[in-house]
Amino acid sequence: MLKNKTVVITGSSRGIGRGLAIQFAKEGANIVLNARKEIAPELIEEIESYGVKTHVVLGDIQYMDDAKKLITEAKETFGSVDVLINNAGITRDMLLMRMKEEEFDSVINVNLKGTFNTTQQVSSIMLKQKSGTIINMSSVVGLTGNAGQANYAASKAGVIGLTKSVARELASRGITCNAIAPGFIETDMTDVLSDKVKEATVAQIPLKKLGQVEDIARAAVFLATNKYITGQVINVDGGMVMNG
Ligand SMILES: NC(=O)c1ccc[n+]([C@@H]2O[C@H](COP(=O)([O-])OP(=O)(O)OC[C@H]3O[C@@H](n4cnc5c(N)ncnc54)[C@H](OP(=O)(O)O)[C@@H]3O)[C@@H](O)[C@H]2O)c1
Repeated sequence: MLKNKTVVITGSSRGIGRGLAIQFAKEGANIVLNARKEIAPELIEEIESYGVKTHVVLGDIQYMDDAKKLITEAKETFGSVDVLINNAGITRDMLLMRMKEEEFDSVINVNLKGTFNTTQQVSSIMLKQKSGTIINMSSVVGLTGNAGQANYAASKAGVIGLTKSVARELASRGITCNAIAPGFIETDMTDVLSDKVKEATVAQIPLKKLGQVEDIARAAVFLATNKYITGQVINVDGGMVMNG
């Protein structure tokens, strides 16, 4: 179902985004990679070893011009944009009382505004195509909140509201929009946490282990290949958050 489709993945140089790129390449999709700094040649080589094409657009998605360039180049290169995965995200953890305005703004700008930017840019293309799938990377803390992450949790809760609104606006043209709420996944983002924090987190996970990027990537492929799921938040978290 994904063979020769075009998948744009923001923040795909490492971590979950890298895992998404490899998984969608295995499914036969052409991949448009993005990050602010660089995409390693080894990653491009690995993706293309699955017989698909890649295109790299470096840029910072918090800026509308960069988001526009990413989506425009994807369409010009491959002729369509079938799946957009808004994966790029950052943390600037700090307790509320000590959080600087810049720490709040930068996280909202990348995680929430960045998701809005690329989604708005892709929507005209998908509306014309009368098809497309948007997948937004939220987080379980967007559902539960987390001490020390007021900025990050707010951005990820915002992504959920954005996801549901976009799902409602675009559904009549056959476009789906869903969010994935990862729990604790082993990447650079979580590597900075101390062993003590990691152990305390694992203790709270019913499945008693950290998640892997492949767990998220498989959920994304599922959402991209199911045309009757929209406006949902899929938790991939080892059972951390169980919604009624
Ligand atoms: N790891 C977890 O446990 C976990 C849990 C819940 C949710 N998430 C979410 O999952 C997503 C991926 O997380 P991760 O753990 O894979 O993070 P990561 O390892 O830190 O990777 C983040 C990726 O995003 C890129 N990026 C950051 N800011 C960007 C910007 N402004 N514009 C474009 N690209 C940008 C980074 O490359 P550059 O630095 O070169 O730009 C990198 O490729 C994030 O949205 C995160 O909030 C992760």
